[in-house]
Amino acid sequence: MLIDIIAGARPNFIKIAPIIEAIEKQRLAGLDMHYRLVHTGQHYDKKMSGDFFDQLNIPAPDFNLEAGSGTQAEQTGKIMVGYEKLLMQKPCDLCIVVGDVTSTMACSIAAKKMNNIKVAHVEAGIRSGDWTMPEEINRMVTDSITDYFFTTSEIANGNLRKSGISDNRIFFVGNTMIDTLYKQMPRFKQPDVWEKCQLTRQGYIIMTLHRPANVDNGAKLMELVTEIIKSSKGMPVIFPVHPRTAKMLETTGIAADNLILTEPLGYLEFNYLVQNAKAVITDSGGITEEATVMAVPCMTLRDSTERPETCTVGTNELLGTNPDSIAPAFEKLFSGNWKKGGIPEMWDGKTSDRIVKRIAEIFDLKQL
Ligand code: UD1
Ligand code: UDP
Repeated sequence: MLIDIIAGARPNFIKIAPIIEAIEKQRLAGLDMHYRLVHTGQHYDKKMSGDFFDQLNIPAPDFNLEAGSGTQAEQTGKIMVGYEKLLMQKPCDLCIVVGDVTSTMACSIAAKKMNNIKVAHVEAGIRSGDWTMPEEINRMVTDSITDYFFTTSEIANGNLRKSGISDNRIFFVGNTMIDTLYKQMPRFKQPDVWEKCQLTRQGYIIMTLHRPANVDNGAKLMELVTEIIKSSKGMPVIFPVHPRTAKMLETTGIAADNLILTEPLGYLEFNYLVQNAKAVITDSGGITEEATVMAVPCMTLRDSTERPETCTVGTNELLGTNPDSIAPAFEKLFSGNWKKGGIPEMWDGKTSDRIVKRIAEIFDLKQL
């Protein structure tokens, strides 16, 4: 059996690492299961791509489609054309896509239109309900043509059932991003900024922002960052800047005594900072899940989330995108009244093994 594993953007690399490892384990145990790793090239900077392959020990991609950046349609088109060419040379039996980025949607369409290749979607069924997010369109399109749905929550299962998917195609397995988190936790690494800025445990805030709604409008971005700097009452705010955000900050500029800007950090360094932070403030999806598992208070600058369990079970709270909600949230944090949170069901570090075993059953794979 030949499986294509698709990865294009930063969060994808973290989600595929344990799936590849689980496939390798089965192959070494004699199962007829092989994979090709396809990097679409959606993210290409070393700090957004190569560093994750190095740190997480992901094998070099078998193919790089080199799609690069562009408008939504340009990027989707380039990825589809690239992946279709590959499938025409040699089709696979199953295409595994993860998450909700443009690469996820584009490759699922190309595979499905190529002799109806089976598609498995890892992190299927989650919905924010916000159609202004490109990710929500990616999720809906991908799930409309997926064969096997691997899910992170009962809520995702419910969303899929509501859309008419039968139970025998929905597999509640947990979260592969958390497989990576548990595996890598003992290797978390203090970044240089720790010494340089004399950071202390729970003595700083870690922040990331990259959603178009927060960063593509310079005035909005300035309003948010200014309010965060003010509300953190002098506590250092470490801000590893995503390239989309960096582009905007080049125009607007920003500086404050307690604001520390860095390049995007490696996985081990970034999560060291999350684990030891007083709190996280973010608009990322994946980071809310990691903060939940590490029981670190998390404030999300979005009006909706496709990961409601990070709020109902975990440490995450949606502040919305109105800067007025930031100061009261910091007051709650500093008063020591932030909720403690728990860990969502099945987020136990064994998700990828469950996925791969299930695939072996579905395809009735035999020992060689
Ligand atoms: C993408 C995903 C988003 C995900 C995020 C993770 C979509 C629609 N969006 O957003 O869901 O949360 O990745 O980080 O798929 N750029 C670089 N170097 C790179 C990559 C990007 O400079 O290696 C710059 C380019 O100017 C590019 C911009 O960042 O135009 C945006 O990149 P893109 O991949 O289109 O979207 P992200 O904002 O990264
Ligand atoms: N991350 C990282 N370095 C950073 C910022 C994020 O390693 O400087 C990791 C983070 O731990 C998580 C993933 O990148 O595993 C989340 O990616 P991102 O926020 O870009 O995307 P999203 O999850 O919002 O789609």
